[in-house]
Amino acid sequence: MTVRPWIRRVRRAILATGTTAVLAAGLLTGAAVPAQAAAQRPCDLYAAGGTPCVAAHSTTRALYGGYNGPLYQVRRASDGATKDIGPLSTGGYADAQAQDTFCAATSCAITVLYDQSGRGNSLTQGLKGGGWPGPAAGGNDNLANAFEAPVTVAGHRAYGVYIAPGTGYRNNHTNGIAVGDQPEGMYAVFDGTHANDGCCFDYGNAETSGADTGDGHMEAIYFGTNTGWGRGSGNGPWVMADLENGLFSGVNRGLNTGDPSINDRFVTAIVKGEPDRWAIRAGNAQAGGLLTGYSGPRPGGSGYHPMHKEGAIILGIGGDNSNASAGTFYEGVMTSGYPSDATENAVQADITAAGYSSAPTGSGSLTPGSAVSLRATTACCTSDYLRHDDTDTKVVISAVGSSGPATDKAAAGWIVRAGLANSSCLSFESADRPGQFLRHYGFELYLNADDGGGNFAQDATFCATPGNSGTGASFRSVNYPTKYLRHYDYTAYVAGNGGSNAWDSASSWADDTTWVVGRPLA
Ligand code: AHR
Ligand code: AHR
Repeated sequence: MTVRPWIRRVRRAILATGTTAVLAAGLLTGAAVPAQAAAQRPCDLYAAGGTPCVAAHSTTRALYGGYNGPLYQVRRASDGATKDIGPLSTGGYADAQAQDTFCAATSCAITVLYDQSGRGNSLTQGLKGGGWPGPAAGGNDNLANAFEAPVTVAGHRAYGVYIAPGTGYRNNHTNGIAVGDQPEGMYAVFDGTHANDGCCFDYGNAETSGADTGDGHMEAIYFGTNTGWGRGSGNGPWVMADLENGLFSGVNRGLNTGDPSINDRFVTAIVKGEPDRWAIRAGNAQAGGLLTGYSGPRPGGSGYHPMHKEGAIILGIGGDNSNASAGTFYEGVMTSGYPSDATENAVQADITAAGYSSAPTGSGSLTPGSAVSLRATTACCTSDYLRHDDTDTKVVISAVGSSGPATDKAAAGWIVRAGLANSSCLSFESADRPGQFLRHYGFELYLNADDGGGNFAQDATFCATPGNSGTGASFRSVNYPTKYLRHYDYTAYVAGNGGSNAWDSASSWADDTTWVVGRPLA
C-alpha cells in the first residue's frame, strides 16, 4: 500500500509528457505500442507483440524505454530511513551510487521492488499474517541485503536481489495478473551460479492467500536444483515451472531430458502458459538465443487443466511461502497474454545487449568492483599473497610467482565489494569462486559462500585503514574492531595486537597485519 501514492504520481507524470503519452496509453489499455524514439526495452517489445507487461521488476534497469520512476527502495539499518533508487536516465540503468551514498557507513536492505508497469504490482517483504491474509510457511520472510549481489550492466554498477534461504517478496493484491486459465508469460534474469535445492526459488504467479490451495493454483518460473518433483538432464540447476505441488520440467513429473541444466553466470528463464499449453524456455543472458526446454500440453492430473491461477506475485519463495531456497534476481516481468517465441527472442536480444557482467570494473585499488591482490609485507614473506587454499576452505599466504601455476594466481585474486555489513568498509569476493567471500569464523579466515545472514555479513566485512606498520593498508574486522586481517604461520586470521590466541602474538603484529594492495596476478 505504501507504494500507491508513487504510482499515482508516476502515472500523472507519464501522462503529462507528450512523447511518452502513447506508451502510457499502450500500457494502460494493453494496445500495441507504436515505435518510439526511446529504446525498445523488454516491456516495449512485449507490448509490440500484443502481450503487454502487467508487472515489471528490476533493481538494475528500466524495463520500458520511457520509464523514469523508481526501480526499488532500500532501508538503512542506522536510522530506518528509506530511499527510492531510480534509473540514471529515462529508460536507463540503476543509480547504484545513490544507494552507496544513502547507505554509507551502515547496511541496507531492499524493501520494495517497484512495478514499472504502472499497475501497482510492486513486491514487498513476504509476511506471516499481518499484511497478508494467509500464513507464510516459516514465518515472515527476510529482506535481501542491498549489497549482496553486485553486478555491472552496460558498464554501470548495479545491485541484484540476493535471495538467501529465508528471504522472500510477495504481492497478494495485484492488478491485471492472469487468473484461472488466462494466458500469461514471464521471464526473469537470474544468477545461474547461485542456486540450491530448497523449495522454491520462484518468480511469478501464486496464491493470493499465501497458502497451498492445490494443483494448478500457481504458474511461476522456478530455478534451482530441487529434484523432489521434477528435474531435467544433467545435475541442474534447471528452469522449471512451479505449477503448485510440482516443479515441472515437462509434461510428466520426474525426469524430462529436454530440459537442460543451465550453468551460465547469467540466465534468462521463461515460463508461459495458456489453456492446455505451456512452455519453458531458457538461455544465456549474456549471449545467444533461447532454447525451448518444453512446449506442449498441461501435465495430466485433475488440477492442471484447466489451471486455477490466483494472480499473486512471488519472488524467491514458493506459493505457500516455503523459503528454503536461494538465488539471485536481476529483472523480470509478467505479461497479459501468451507471448510468441518471436517476442521472447527479441526480449532475449535486448537482455544480451544490456551487457550483464560480474567481471571487475577496475584493477589494483580498494574501490568496489576492483580486482586486487594482497601481498604480505613481513620480511619473511614479501613474495607471498593472500589466497584461498585449494584443498579446504581456509585462507593462507603463499608465494605466487608470475611464472607460477595459473590456478595459484587465480586463487590469490579478490574482487573488492562494498562491505556487506557496512558499505563504507569492504568485503573481498574470490575472483575465481564467485559468491564466496573472505570471512572470519572462530577468528580464523575462511572462504565461504555468502549465506545472506547478518553474522556472515559482519564476519565478511573489513574496514581499510593505513597500514599498521606505516606502509600499505590494514583491514580491521568490523565486528571485532581491535582485530585485523593477519597472517601467522602462513595462515590467515583476524588478530589483536596481543591476546589469547597464538595468532594474537604481539611479535611482528604490525608487519603481519600490513598488506600491499596491487593488481591481480591472473
Ligand atoms: O510446487 C512446489 C511447491 O509446493 C510450491 O511452491 C509450494 O507452494 C508447495 O510447497
Ligand atoms: O571469528 C570470530 C567469530 O567466530 C565470528 O564472528 C563468528 O561467526 C564465530 O563464532
